[in-house]
Amino acid sequence: MPSPGKVVTRSDSSSPSRVSRRGFLTTGASSVVGLSAFGCDTRSTVQDKLPYPALSQPQGPEDESWAHVRQQFIPEPGMAYMNNASLGMPPAVVVEAVAAGYKLVSRDPIRGRSGLQKAVDSRVLPSLANFFGATPGEFSLTRNATEALHLQVMGSNLNAGDEVLISSQEHPAGRNPWLLRVERNGIEVTEVFVSSPFEDARDVVESFERAITPRTRAIAFCHVTRGGHLYPVKQLVDMARAHGLISLVDGAQAVGMFPIDLDDLGCDAYSASLHKWMLGPIGTGFLYVREGAREKIRSTFSFNATPSNPALAPPGTADLPVRAALESALNFVEQLGVENVERRTRFLSDYLKSQLGTLPGVHLLSGPTSDTCCPGSTIFEIEGVDAMALVPIVDEEHAIHIDEHQRDGHNAIRVSTHVYNTTAEIERLMAALEDAAEKGVPRVSA
Ligand SMILES: Cc1ncc(COP(=O)(O)O)c(C=O)c1O
Repeated sequence: MPSPGKVVTRSDSSSPSRVSRRGFLTTGASSVVGLSAFGCDTRSTVQDKLPYPALSQPQGPEDESWAHVRQQFIPEPGMAYMNNASLGMPPAVVVEAVAAGYKLVSRDPIRGRSGLQKAVDSRVLPSLANFFGATPGEFSLTRNATEALHLQVMGSNLNAGDEVLISSQEHPAGRNPWLLRVERNGIEVTEVFVSSPFEDARDVVESFERAITPRTRAIAFCHVTRGGHLYPVKQLVDMARAHGLISLVDGAQAVGMFPIDLDDLGCDAYSASLHKWMLGPIGTGFLYVREGAREKIRSTFSFNATPSNPALAPPGTADLPVRAALESALNFVEQLGVENVERRTRFLSDYLKSQLGTLPGVHLLSGPTSDTCCPGSTIFEIEGVDAMALVPIVDEEHAIHIDEHQRDGHNAIRVSTHVYNTTAEIERLMAALEDAAEKGVPRVSA
């Protein structure tokens, strides 16, 4: 361990940059007085002023029950968007909330900022934390999952020679911070092979448990992988706890797709994006650190953080209009019911899978059961079709947005459907895939 450095303060009273505490306080006080003299009401928030669509809960998973929900979105006319796992398509109400927040700041920057900050602190953060089974003190907003994953890895209390087990299916956003710690701190990282797909939860838990050595201190894995494999988080966390290991989860592909109770899962840290399945504005995510895990995962910002003041959130001026608009996204999902979102996304992916079953040359790579495969994302290969080459063709010729999945040794296509998609759009995609399978789509050389 490097020895701690020291901070030297020069006591040169003639320094021109020196500001007395008294002077600072005076300046601060006068600006507050100035604001109230202009009659600013810092209690008002953006969402208070926005019309909010009253959405009735869909009665079933079929298209008819979700037609009124689809109307809340503003996609490019004619486009079928099935790449939600890359980036969600926020409903109009979220877009309007972001715009309203920016207007507030542009009209009156300081007052606007403080109104938005209040909305975030008093409403957005507590209600999001509550939605995910956490307390506000366990919850920090970030710009995305990548930032949160970086914080949970860099903050993990590990020393040179300590070993971390990660799955072979980690997203680079989850793997790269560990490689940084290998480079900087001499941590050892062991990749545990998990097959794609895997048969059942036991496969995964036993693979991790078999890999534990006397030097293992932590395990890190996805709740849902980029390809849609659903990991047995609770069983993995229980196993980790029984061995005294820190458990760190990447929830980027999970939150918003089905109910999640972080307290019940019991992991030490959980990182997620809110701009995918939660339908939040782009540039939103969170870091959860369990209250009891504050000695295990510590601040990467503050020199004087303590368990009662963990200082885990990135400090400094934040994208407040974007964060405040998370309230609209959360309201939207809550009005629909996240259980209904799960049923609807499962219904659509089941429909896609049944259609794929009729197409010759298709190898489905998603997990075989609802315990091993998430509701929203489906991966498959088509014989003679290169996924990388296919994606732009389907986009340009059919106005359908899907993605490739070149991981885990696959040359796969990923289709990620959210509540706004329809069976008619899936049939449109099938026609495009049938065409591709018939003609073949060879790899395009670089
Ligand atoms: C499993 C997984 N983890 C992390 C990320 C990174 O998410 P973000 O871009 O929000 O940081 C992604 C992005 O697709 C992902 O699929």
